Amino acid sequence: MVRRPFIAGNWKMNTTRSEAVQLVEALREAVAGVDGVDMAVCPPSVYLDAVSAAVQGSSVALGAQNMYHQAKGAYTGELSAAMLLDVGCRYVILGHSERRHVLGESNEDVCRKVHAAFAAGLTPIVCVGETLDEREANKTTDIVAEQFFGSLAGIDGDQAAQVVIAYEPVWAIGTGVVATVAQAGEVHANLRGMMTSRYGAAVADQIRIQYGGSVTADNAAELLAISDIDGALVGGASLKADSFAKIIRAAVS
Ligand code: PGA
Repeated sequence: MVRRPFIAGNWKMNTTRSEAVQLVEALREAVAGVDGVDMAVCPPSVYLDAVSAAVQGSSVALGAQNMYHQAKGAYTGELSAAMLLDVGCRYVILGHSERRHVLGESNEDVCRKVHAAFAAGLTPIVCVGETLDEREANKTTDIVAEQFFGSLAGIDGDQAAQVVIAYEPVWAIGTGVVATVAQAGEVHANLRGMMTSRYGAAVADQIRIQYGGSVTADNAAELLAISDIDGALVGGASLKADSFAKIIRAAVS
């Protein structure tokens, strides 16, 4: 089965309001007419509304960088899935390594969020990936398996077919050190195997697995050429419309 590629930009905590709007307006223009690929931007949450207005009528979808698992209530500072939907989000990044390692999110936390995202009708982009220490200790497969199975506990096959997994080796994020084609290909193939063992081949074949970690306009094409790499989650290179548009084009060329 040929999975439709999906390129998402994670802007993290890096834009002002006017930069966010200008960036997405330039991106809209740069990708006008590009077909055969899903694309999304994930701005800081306070600018979701502004960016949502700016992408109306384009093929650029909107995603959030995080959410809370509760539907509503006394959770100061948090945002619910329904709120994200309300401002036009279709996707939400969950369990990004910065949330796991800087903010202390566990697989159980991520799993609760995945359930809440599906319950509300958002598509989760669930991030997994090992640290450098874990890779050097030959624990990559174990860590990725723990994160994959832990974050998707209780998720059924129909939901799993919709989920997006982002394999992001922590040592490659924001470092300029991209995983080699062999390294990324191996983990992506292992992830496909985990999906098959858990959900069967028909579902596993539908799940898109993005690679993330120092993806640029220069290295995207060779990564995206790998059969189990179905897209990219892009940080730094998504902050410039021209480089992000090149990565999007690389997914369909
Ligand atoms: P990077 O970030 O492309 O800047 O390495 C990727 C990510 O954290 O999603």
